[in-house]
Amino acid sequence: MPKSDTSRLYHQLVKRMRALADIKNTMALLQWDQETYMPKGGALFRGQQLTTLAELAHRMETSPALGQLLEKLLDKAELSEVERKNVELIHLYYQKAKRYPSSLVKALTQAANRCFMAWIQARQEHQFAVFAPELEKMIALKKQEAEILGYPACPYDALLDQHERGLTTEILENIFPPLREHILSLLSKIQQKPQPPDDFLYAYADKQQQWEFGLYLLQATGFDFNKGRQDLSEHPFTTSFSPHDVRVTTRMHEHQLATMVWSCIHEGGHALYEQGLPAEQYGMPGGQASSLVIHESQSRLWENCIGRSLAFWTFHYPAWQKRFPTPFSHIALEDFYRAINLVKPSLIRTEADELTYHLHIFIRYEIEKKLINEHLPIQELPDLWNALYAEMLDVKVSDDVQGVLQDVHWSHGSLGYFPTYTLGSLLAAQWWEQLQQELPQLDEALAQGQTAPILNWLRKHIHGYGSLYTAEELCRRVTGKPLQADAFLRYVQQKYFRIYGLE
Ligand code: CO
Repeated sequence: MPKSDTSRLYHQLVKRMRALADIKNTMALLQWDQETYMPKGGALFRGQQLTTLAELAHRMETSPALGQLLEKLLDKAELSEVERKNVELIHLYYQKAKRYPSSLVKALTQAANRCFMAWIQARQEHQFAVFAPELEKMIALKKQEAEILGYPACPYDALLDQHERGLTTEILENIFPPLREHILSLLSKIQQKPQPPDDFLYAYADKQQQWEFGLYLLQATGFDFNKGRQDLSEHPFTTSFSPHDVRVTTRMHEHQLATMVWSCIHEGGHALYEQGLPAEQYGMPGGQASSLVIHESQSRLWENCIGRSLAFWTFHYPAWQKRFPTPFSHIALEDFYRAINLVKPSLIRTEADELTYHLHIFIRYEIEKKLINEHLPIQELPDLWNALYAEMLDVKVSDDVQGVLQDVHWSHGSLGYFPTYTLGSLLAAQWWEQLQQELPQLDEALAQGQTAPILNWLRKHIHGYGSLYTAEELCRRVTGKPLQADAFLRYVQQKYFRIYGLE
C-alpha cells in the first residue's frame, strides 16, 4: 500500500475528530456562559441546545464510518509514533462509546439532572433524606454502567478507569493505606506543637483589590491573557475551547482573601496546562488533556509546591502588602508563610490544608467502594460519613451540609473521581522533586519572581504530550519512577518539620 493512502486516511480521521472537537468545545462555551453571564431565563433553551449538541457528538463518536476508518488505520505500518498512539486511543474511546446503549446515556443524563436538583434542595433544607432517593437511583445506574464497561477485579475499577485510564482499586490499595498512616503520624506530631496565628488572613479585603491581585498572580505564573481570560462564577473552574482560548473563573468574599488567592493560582495551573497543549494536535488525543491526575498535578504544583512556598512569596509578598496594607504591612513574611501553611483538621474538603486534605479523600474513597462494590444502604451514608470523620480527622459533623452533602460530585454521577485529587498531589510532588534536580537554582529564581523556567519545563515534559500517556506512563518517562507517595512524603516532611520546628 502506498504511503499516500495511509496519509489520506489519517487526514480523514483528523477532519472527523476536529469536527467532533468543534462540537464539544462549543458545548463547553455554552456551559461556561451558563455559569458566568447567562440570564436565568435562558436556562430552558440552553439545556435543550446542550442536549442537541450532546446527541450530535455521540452520533459522531459512534458512527460506523469512524469505526471502519479506524480499523483500516490500525493495519497501517507507516503511521508515525504519535499518529499510531492517536489512532489507538481514538479506537479505544470508540469501542467504549459503542458499548453504551442510548437508553443508558439518556437515563444517566436525566438522573444527573434530578440528582443535582435534589442535592441543591437537600442543602437548602439541611435534609439528607431529600437527596437520598435520587442518589440511590444514581448509584444503581452507575453499577449498571460498571457492568457494561467491564472491569478487572471489582465494579469500582470501571468507574476509576473513567477518570484515569488504567487506574484500579489494586493500585490505590498499594498507595492509600500507607500514605494515610504517614499523614496521621505527621499530623499528631504537628498537633503537639503550638499553632501559628492566622487570624489576619480573614481580615477585610476590598473586592476590586482582590480581583486585580488575582489577575496579577495569573500574570506572575505565565497565564497568557491573549489566549484566555478570567471571569466570576459561583464556583471557580477552568474550561478550554482550544489552547488559544482558555477560561478561568474565581469568586471573592470580603473576608476570604486567601481562598481567592489560592483558588486563583490553582485554576491558573489548570489553565497553563490547557494553554500549553499542542495546537496542531487539536481534536486528537495528542492535543487533549484527558488525564484528571495529570491535570490536577499541574494545578496543585502551582497552588501548593510553588504558591505556598517561601521563595515565591519572598518576591510577591510586598505586592500583597502594598495592596492590602491593613493588616499586612505589620505582618512579617515568615509569619505570613507559617499562616498560609497552617495544618488543622476541619470539616470541609475544599478548605483543608495540604496534609489533612487527603484524609477527606480517603473517607470518600472508602464510602464509594462500599456504595459500588457492596450494598451500603443509602440511609446509612450520613452515619458512616460522620463516623469516618470522627475516626480520621477527630472532628464532629453536626449538619449534613458540612458533612455528606458538601460535595457536588455524587449528584453528577462522578464516582471514582475523588482519588484523582490525591494522586494529582502525589504527582505534583514528583514533578517538583524532578524540577529541583533539573533546575538547581529554582528557589533563587522564584525569589526573584521568575517562573518561566518552570513553565518551560512543564511545557516540554508534560503539556506537549496531551493525553498520549496516562499519568503513570508520563511519570515513569519523566522521573524514571512509578507514581507513588515517596516524593510527597519527603516534601511534606521537609516543609512542616521546618514550619513547626519538629525533629
Ligand atoms: Co483542580
